[in-house]
Amino acid sequence: MKQMNNNISNPFSFGHKHNHVFVKFGVCFLLLGLSYRLFFSTSIDSSPVVDTDTAFVAEDTLSPPVGNPPIPGDLPVNESQTYHNEKCDIFTGEWVPDPTGPFYTNNSCHSIEDHQNCMRNGRPDSGYIYWRWKPRECELPKFNPGRFLDFMRDKSIAFIGDSISRNQVQSLVCTLSEVEKAVEVYHDEEYRSKRWSFPSHNFSVSVIWTPFLIKAAVFEDNNGVSSGTIQLHLDQLDEVWTEQYKNFDYAVLAGGKWYLKTAIYYENTTMVGCHNCEKNITELGFEYAYRKALQLVFNFVTHSNHKVHILFRTSTPDHFENGEWNTGGYCNQTVPFKEGEVDISDVDRVMRDIELEEFENAEAIGSEKGSTFKLFDTTHLSLLRPDGHPGVYRMFQPYAGKDKSAKVQNDCLHWCLPGPIDSWNDLIMEMMLN
Ligand SMILES: *[C@@H]1O[C@H](CO)[C@@H](O)[C@H](O)[C@H]1NC(C)=O
Ligand SMILES: *[C@@H]1O[C@H](CO)[C@@H](O)[C@H](O)[C@H]1NC(C)=O
Ligand SMILES: *[C@@H]1O[C@H](CO)[C@@H](O)[C@H](O)[C@H]1NC(C)=O
Ligand SMILES: *[C@@H]1O[C@H](CO)[C@@H](O)[C@H](O)[C@H]1NC(C)=O
Ligand SMILES: *[C@@H]1O[C@H](CO)[C@@H](O)[C@H](O)[C@H]1NC(C)=O
Ligand SMILES: *[C@@H]1O[C@H](CO)[C@@H](O)[C@H](O)[C@H]1NC(C)=O
Repeated sequence: MKQMNNNISNPFSFGHKHNHVFVKFGVCFLLLGLSYRLFFSTSIDSSPVVDTDTAFVAEDTLSPPVGNPPIPGDLPVNESQTYHNEKCDIFTGEWVPDPTGPFYTNNSCHSIEDHQNCMRNGRPDSGYIYWRWKPRECELPKFNPGRFLDFMRDKSIAFIGDSISRNQVQSLVCTLSEVEKAVEVYHDEEYRSKRWSFPSHNFSVSVIWTPFLIKAAVFEDNNGVSSGTIQLHLDQLDEVWTEQYKNFDYAVLAGGKWYLKTAIYYENTTMVGCHNCEKNITELGFEYAYRKALQLVFNFVTHSNHKVHILFRTSTPDHFENGEWNTGGYCNQTVPFKEGEVDISDVDRVMRDIELEEFENAEAIGSEKGSTFKLFDTTHLSLLRPDGHPGVYRMFQPYAGKDKSAKVQNDCLHWCLPGPIDSWNDLIMEMMLN
């Protein structure tokens, strides 16, 4: 059995190994301000969307996709296997071959962020786009953009979180655009938060960049170089999303890996501790902050007067092998894992356990105001896709003018577009329409 980051046996038991893993992560994150930012921050900030049709006209040798693309909005629907899955756990299953392939290509969609545009960047294999998620006990219909748009008429959805949320929103916008072209109606200064409109359906899709979900002071310049330790206010939400919350009918919320960063924690404006800081401050561990933050988030959504259908997405695993971000870690597999071939990393397991516990607590309290909660549990199915990351193809033609053995930074966290994250939309559709 393969375990991602398998050099750590059980770092979350108490004892010195415990510290070891945090120090290891911390040092990594400290040293890697710049590359780290490429993963979690916004790599598109300084390079506004370009029209890739004209930006890259070079021919290359990649083979065209095989199979016939489905006709958008007009998929054959087998009613007997569609949206009748009440008892089925849609998150337990396997990846099965899917010759129909993705809805969109790097040529048809202009919303794909450069660092995730694997085909354009020269990734040579294309097998990774011909798989779909198949729950063990039922069928999961493929996403149907026409049906989704009709369902969402006069409504709005927001993806609230870090760059993985943006990764998914791009997949959704690209897929829907095959039926109705998305119109970008808003972006913030750094292109981290955006809103698209689908005018003929009076439907809007937002992505809100708030990597901690709570109030944070992040001291990074535009190049991701950090000039100070992150300050997190564990008792205050980030207003960038709470102020807009009343505008949404659906929200896909997610926390995540930013909590592994070195940070000083405040409660009621008083410093209460930190994670990984070198100063003489009590080490509370990221678990403490992450749990507090999720409690605050769930408390807000359960008590809000505005009714929203919430999907809470669990941690997304990375697939760095034989190293980490900048210590030569890479991901060059070309097929999914089968069940039992991989084990979740310890850090990802800890994060997900906190998520499940706090979600269940919130669910038990329930919503007083009629909002609904669902767990969008993508962790395990994503763990089975080591083949879906950009790897070295986060850069355009990474080996151009270089030896094939040249050291190139890998991205084994975000997902290629098109790629496995497109299947997350199948799940969202099932959860929303069921
Ligand atoms: C629809 O799906 C059910 C269950 O998988 C299957 O038994 C049936 O043959 C399918 N019908 C058609 C028309 O494909
Ligand atoms: C899309 O990728 C193909 C290679 O698969 C490449 O030839 C083409 O130029 C790319 N198009 C854009 C717009 O990036
Ligand atoms: C668009 O949807 C909003 C609700 O989100 C509704 O108030 C508005 O009337 C709709 N506009 C049209 C033209 O139907
Ligand atoms: C915050 O601190 C102030 C001053 O110490 C105190 O009066 C107040 O009760 C505290 N509030 C909470 C919510 O703990
Ligand atoms: C660290 O804090 C403890 C308790 O507040 C104090 O006794 C100790 O002197 C401090 N050490 C340094 C190096 O500041
Ligand atoms: C993946 O990359 C490693 C390190 O560069 C190399 O040793 C290995 O052969 C590669 N595997 C595949 C399947 O390309």
